[in-house]
Amino acid sequence: MKFNGIAVLGLQWGDEGKGKVIDFLSDYCDAVARFGGGANAGHTIVVDGQKYILKLLPSGILREGKLCFIGAGVACDPEALQKELADLESRGISTRGRIFIDYAAHLVLPLHKVSDGYLDAGRGKGAIDTTKRGIGPAYADKASRVGIRVSDIFAKDSLEAKLSYIIEAHKNNLGDRGNDESIADPARLAFNLAGYESLFKEIVTDCGPKIIELLENGKTVLFEGAQGALLDLDYGTYPYVTSSHTTVGGIFTGLGIPPASLRTAIGVCKAYMTRVGHGPFPTEIEGDFADNLREKGREYGSVTGRPRRVGWLDLANLKRIVKLNGIDKLAITKLDVLDGLEEIMVCESYEIDGTKMAGIPPNHPDFSRAKPVYSRLKGWKESTGGLNKLGQLPKNARAYLDYISEKVGVPFWLISTGFSRGDTIIVDENPFS
Ligand code: IMP
Repeated sequence: MKFNGIAVLGLQWGDEGKGKVIDFLSDYCDAVARFGGGANAGHTIVVDGQKYILKLLPSGILREGKLCFIGAGVACDPEALQKELADLESRGISTRGRIFIDYAAHLVLPLHKVSDGYLDAGRGKGAIDTTKRGIGPAYADKASRVGIRVSDIFAKDSLEAKLSYIIEAHKNNLGDRGNDESIADPARLAFNLAGYESLFKEIVTDCGPKIIELLENGKTVLFEGAQGALLDLDYGTYPYVTSSHTTVGGIFTGLGIPPASLRTAIGVCKAYMTRVGHGPFPTEIEGDFADNLREKGREYGSVTGRPRRVGWLDLANLKRIVKLNGIDKLAITKLDVLDGLEEIMVCESYEIDGTKMAGIPPNHPDFSRAKPVYSRLKGWKESTGGLNKLGQLPKNARAYLDYISEKVGVPFWLISTGFSRGDTIIVDENPFS
C-alpha cells in the first residue's frame, strides 16, 4: 500500500521557487518534513505582503497547526535554528509543540563554517563558491564518523572528548581562527553547545517512526526538498554541488522512512534557469539581456545575496532529472519573468566538439564543453503577472508550457505567475489525483 506522502523536489540548481509550492501544498497536508541540506537553503514565502525566508525550518511552519520535522539527513546549525525560531515567534507565529528534529541530525559547528571558507578559498580558480554555511565540512565529518549529532548534546560525559577530536581534525583548515576559543576550544564549545540543550530537549525525537505513524493513520506528509537535482552530491554537476542528496532517494535515508511512503512527486522548475555559484551551465546567457532577466526575476541569492547566473531552460537535462526522480507533475515558476520576449530559446540537445548528443549527464567528463542546441519558440507580449486561471494565459505562454510538458513527458500541475500566494494557477486542486 502506498501512503499519502508527497514530495516537492527542485529540478535545477536550487532557487526554483519550492518555498511557494510547499507553502501552497502544506495547506493540504498534516505535516512537512525536511530531509536534507541545511541553512544553505533559503525558501522565500510571501504571505499577506510579508516576506519570510526559511533556511532550516520546513516551509509548513507558516501554517498554523502543521507538524514540521527536520530529519537525520539535515545538517543543523543550532545557532541558525534558534534564530529562525525566535524570529518567527517575534512575528507572531507559534512553533511550540509542532517542530521536531531527529536525534541523528548532525550539527554544523562554528568550525565547519570557518573550514568551509578556508577550503573553498584554497581551491583557487576551482572554487565552488559555497554558501559558507559549513555544509560541506559538516557532511564530510558525518561520513568520516567524527561528526557531532543532536544526541551528543545530551551525552555530556563524552561531548568534550568528541569535540577535541573534531577540532584536531580541522586544525589545518582554520587559519587564524584556530586560536579563537569559540571555534577551537573543546571546553568552550561544549559549554556553548550546552546552551542549546533546552531548545533541543523540547524538540528532539526519532522522526522516522513518527512520520510512519502519521502515514499509517491516513495523514498526508509533504517531503520538502532543498536545493535542486543539479546540486545533488552524486547526480549534479560534481564537484560544483552541495554535499547532500537533493534527489528523491534522499527522502528515505534523510527521514528514515520506506519508499512506499511516497505517492506523488512534484518537480519544481523555473521557466528559465539560474545558478548561484561556480560550475558548468551550458545555457547561460550574459550581457544586458541577462542583466534585465536577473532584475526582473529578482535573481539574487536569498541566503547570501549573490547575483544568480541566468540562462534558458535546458530540456535535455530536465528530461533526465524528471526520470531520475520519478516526477509525476511539474510546477513551473516565474513564467511572468519571460513576459514581453519576442522569442524564447530552449535547449533540446548538446553539441560537443562538433558531435550532437541528445542528452548527457552533468558529471560526464565532456559536459563542461557541451554547447546547447536550441529550439526557438514564440514569446508573448501580454503580462501573465498575477494570473490565477489557466484560461487567462496568452496563447504562446500556454504553448510554451505545453511544449515543456510534452518534451519531458509529465503534465504541469501548478504555474506560478508572481511572488504572492495568490499569483498561482492550479491545474488540478487535488495534488494526488
Ligand atoms: P554549499 O551547499 O554551501 O556547500 O554550496 C555548494 C554549491 O551549492 C554552491 O554553488 C552554492 O551556491 C550552491 N547552493 C547551496 N545551497 C543552495 C540553494 O539553496 N540555492 C542555490 N544554490 C545553492
